[in-house]
Amino acid sequence: MNNVLTIAMPKGRIFEEAAELLREAGYKLPPELDDSRKLILDIPEENLRFFLAKPMDVSTYVEHGVADAGIAGKDVLLEEERDVYEVLDLQISSCYLAVAGLPDHPMSDVAPRIATKYPNIASSYFREQGEQVEIIKLNGSIELAPMIGLADRIVDIVSTGRTLKENGLIEYEQICDVTSRLIVNPVSYRMKDLQIDELAERLSKAVSSRQGGKTVG
Ligand code: PRP
Repeated sequence: MNNVLTIAMPKGRIFEEAAELLREAGYKLPPELDDSRKLILDIPEENLRFFLAKPMDVSTYVEHGVADAGIAGKDVLLEEERDVYEVLDLQISSCYLAVAGLPDHPMSDVAPRIATKYPNIASSYFREQGEQVEIIKLNGSIELAPMIGLADRIVDIVSTGRTLKENGLIEYEQICDVTSRLIVNPVSYRMKDLQIDELAERLSKAVSSRQGGKTVG
């Protein structure tokens, strides 16, 4: 393949939405892509190579330049502050970051404990609120922490709100909205500018046609 563009894609639930958007942008992606367990997928007809990465790791691959571009959640971009260009809001995987906890459970006066997958976002949020907190980093099932007494609050993603509801937790504050973004390695942006511009333009058209033709950037 000549001058292939490599794209780091998030595995899991974001993948499906991202693949659908790429198809709407006119990329012919084979149906078997969606169920594959392969981690590197070549689409020679489109001059594309996909790496399937954990959503939290996409920006690492792009920052290191092993992937030219990637699809990453704004949550991860805020948390990791990687040296990548964020070129387009893809308006997929919409959710938000929130502070949640047990109902009628005030935060401890002394160093309340906050469990989260997002230690940097959580620290700066509580710092801005003027609250001194202890951050407890977890890797998943964050909602468990307040239920079993590990933390006073959690900072986590809320999408449908089902996980909070089914575990008897409530949302205290919303921190920020989250959608997936097209990110690009700065060197690739110079070396493969035409390919990257084309990718961004086609995706931008697909996003805006979903929104009834509104321009997105
Ligand atoms: C995410 C997030 C919440 C849940 C929110 O977890 O951390 O737990 O989804 O979604 P909902 O509002 O639609 O219920 P994920 O499924 O990614 O798994 P994790 O717990 O391993 O992080």
